Amino acid sequence: MSDRNQKPSVPKAAVERMQVLRSEIERHNDLYYSAKPELPDADFDLLLRELLDLEAQYPDLVAPDSPTQHVGAPQNTPFAPVEHRMPMMSLDNAFDQSELQAWAGRVAKGLDLDDSAAAVGYICELKIDGLACSLRYENGDLVQAATRGNGKVGEDITDNVRGISVIPETLAGDAPAVVEVRGEIYLPVEKFNELNEAQEKAGLPRYANPRNTAAGSLRQKDASVTASRGLAFWSYQLGVVEGGPTLSGHGEALEWLAGLGFPVNPQWRRASSIDDVVAFADQWLEHRHDLEYEIDGAVVKVDRLDRQNQLGSTAKAPRWAIAYKYPPEEKTTKLLDIMVSIGRTGKATPFAVLEPVFVGGSTVQMATLHNKDQVELKDVHPGDTVIVRKAGDVIPEVVGPVLGERPDGQATWEFPVNCPVCETKLVRPDGEAHTFCVNPACPGQQQGKLEYFCSRGAMDIEGMGESRVALFIEQGFIVDVADIYTIDWDEVAKLEGFGATSISNLQAAIEESKQRPLANLLIGLGIRHLGPAGAEVLAKTFGHMDDIIAASAEDIAAIEGIGPTIATSVASYFDEEGAKRLVEKFRAAGLNLEGPEAPDEPQTLVGKVLVVTGGLEQFTRDGVKEAIVSRGGKNPGSVSKKTTAVVIGDNPGASKLNKATELEIPTLNEEQFIQLLETGELP
Ligand code: IVH
Repeated sequence: MSDRNQKPSVPKAAVERMQVLRSEIERHNDLYYSAKPELPDADFDLLLRELLDLEAQYPDLVAPDSPTQHVGAPQNTPFAPVEHRMPMMSLDNAFDQSELQAWAGRVAKGLDLDDSAAAVGYICELKIDGLACSLRYENGDLVQAATRGNGKVGEDITDNVRGISVIPETLAGDAPAVVEVRGEIYLPVEKFNELNEAQEKAGLPRYANPRNTAAGSLRQKDASVTASRGLAFWSYQLGVVEGGPTLSGHGEALEWLAGLGFPVNPQWRRASSIDDVVAFADQWLEHRHDLEYEIDGAVVKVDRLDRQNQLGSTAKAPRWAIAYKYPPEEKTTKLLDIMVSIGRTGKATPFAVLEPVFVGGSTVQMATLHNKDQVELKDVHPGDTVIVRKAGDVIPEVVGPVLGERPDGQATWEFPVNCPVCETKLVRPDGEAHTFCVNPACPGQQQGKLEYFCSRGAMDIEGMGESRVALFIEQGFIVDVADIYTIDWDEVAKLEGFGATSISNLQAAIEESKQRPLANLLIGLGIRHLGPAGAEVLAKTFGHMDDIIAASAEDIAAIEGIGPTIATSVASYFDEEGAKRLVEKFRAAGLNLEGPEAPDEPQTLVGKVLVVTGGLEQFTRDGVKEAIVSRGGKNPGSVSKKTTAVVIGDNPGASKLNKATELEIPTLNEEQFIQLLETGELP
């Protein structure tokens, strides 16, 4: 191949970053659709944006299964699937005026208009922060409601939607034979606050924000629970229509929908230029909290329907509309105090206690300050007015003080010398950013250990969150993690807020956790340096907790994939009598102590990373992966310096070949690959 034809080689960092981005985006998509998002929307958008940029730069690396090629889809659902007769698309985003202008330029070009936006004609709407839903009416009666799902297939939520009082059961006036209306189901902020007050009274954790709460409320199996939540709906788009008037514009469609009795948000406006659109969005950015619902931007749509048709859509979104998203929100509030919490490892973390402030969709009253140096760097003093930022959902952050509002002579804050829980002197190891309480019996650590044990990545005991763990420790029901399995439920029943249902739910969750894989139990113990991958390898290699306990640091370090630091940490953890006692308690409670069955194939490829490019004769694409993974090897999609060898089949990819040459990685033909599978030796 001549140089001229060679594609530019792709930097390794870009390939790796794209892999990370894809898997992170998929993971967050799943979490989002199970109403357990971990990431603020704004941050999710940034990930997606970064991946799109990389894919634009390296189009060869756009995998057909990349999340950029499909709209997020729900995974496990108790609701029946509904195929959308007209796909429910998402929207592309513009994050600033120049991106909005660029979109307007593309629209004008697509319509063969000159760049004067006035000729286009837009409709501006608020971008409601809720969940998209499609409602189908036949002869004026509501017959089906569905979520967006992956855009092609959603979930049937008709029963639940019938409990949303603003959604008409029957249409007013001259209803067409069929009309599908798309809109947003949302939870009004007031209802959200009421729900949280009730949660607090019951000693239960607060809901994170109205959008997630709306999602959770909608996904109830019991439709009467949905009905009790006070969800509402704004209609903003037509789907399939059969019969009905001839409409020429989106504005007309909105007016028609309102006439049929659909709730149409009254704030929509016509705009004749992008400046008008920006003015609309800016006005609502300033007044968003005057609204009774949450918005996260504005949506701009080309008004004329013939022009919408002319512009068409990409696989994911229409070209005739765009979401103009608001930046993460910031608010100011009072820093009431700085306190220090003790985590499961004894780490002493300072955090801000704030006058409650509603920001980025939920009330924030605490925010981590990470460590001593961060407090000094941010220069925050108790009593300061501080700026708090919360990008949509999850982690609130103190940005810094408003210095102009600092009272004269305001005292600085000193990191405590002693543990605030057990009074032991705190220690900051040389070169470490963090400070620790080194007393293993510190009740602060105990709380952290128990919470960690019950958390999703470990034993996943639903209902055993921070407040219940704290309560059970305080009541003396639990001291170590194994005590969870011998809780005296008669005593729990005497506590306020523990009815028969909540007790039986908690008991069931605890019972279920007994069968978790051995790796989860190992993770739950919180052994220093041992992460999920290490725990998996230990469980798989030793096959039983007793064999792990009996193993020496050398035995453990001999395992492929386990370094000396983890090995020493695991061995010294189980050297302690306390750890052995804990395991005996687990055994008595009937917990699973066995690892997964030993693999069938000889483990010839442990520690080897093989990348395959091009078609092989004796293996399908999935088959080759299976052949590598089942022998303990890794089979990533791209070549890196960790790659042991690249297997070359028919029509190999240029970028993988180039990379292999650049990094001087050995290449194998199919025959040599089969030899490697059998012997584990590189030819
Ligand atoms: S129009 C084909 N209009 O934002 C166009 N969507 O980020 C379909 N959304 O999936 C969407 N307010 O769930 C449209 N006024 C509005 C909206 C809106 C909120 C949601 C909708 C959409 C998502 C895209």
